Amino acid sequence: MEKHLGDKGRELADHDRREHQSVKERLYKLESLQPGSEEYDQLMIVIMDSLHHHNDDEEIKDLPLLEPAIGEQASKQAAQSFKKTKKLVPTRAHPAIPNMPPFETLLGLLEAPIDKIKDWFASFPTEEEMKDAKEELKHRDHDAAAGRAAAEAENR
Ligand SMILES: [Fe+2]
Repeated sequence: MEKHLGDKGRELADHDRREHQSVKERLYKLESLQPGSEEYDQLMIVIMDSLHHHNDDEEIKDLPLLEPAIGEQASKQAAQSFKKTKKLVPTRAHPAIPNMPPFETLLGLLEAPIDKIKDWFASFPTEEEMKDAKEELKHRDHDAAAGRAAAEAENR
């Protein structure tokens, strides 16, 4: 964004990085809490609220500015690159890693295999529980996104 949108892109990217850092720190804290505890549930609500806000910002503000600036072909290439990168990123929060490239990328690549080993030994929900949760989230996220879009339209 900084490269293609100048000062406005830098401002948006800095804002996004601050929100990324905040989520990383909260996720790191969440990992230390007992799932089902009141503190865990409250922090999860805070994290989800901030993620909804962040995702809406990226989809409503950032991408509509960026896409025309880079063009359709570059946009498709960026989407492909993002999909590939998602397979290599750490699966746990690492708030101490700098959130600027290339350090974020390099240190993230070093942490990712360690995360995968930790994940291997962690207990996870069953396939059935995952399926039920995904189904519930699909409806909840859709309803929430529609509600946020309607509220945004009303505020204009
Ligand atoms: Fe983001």
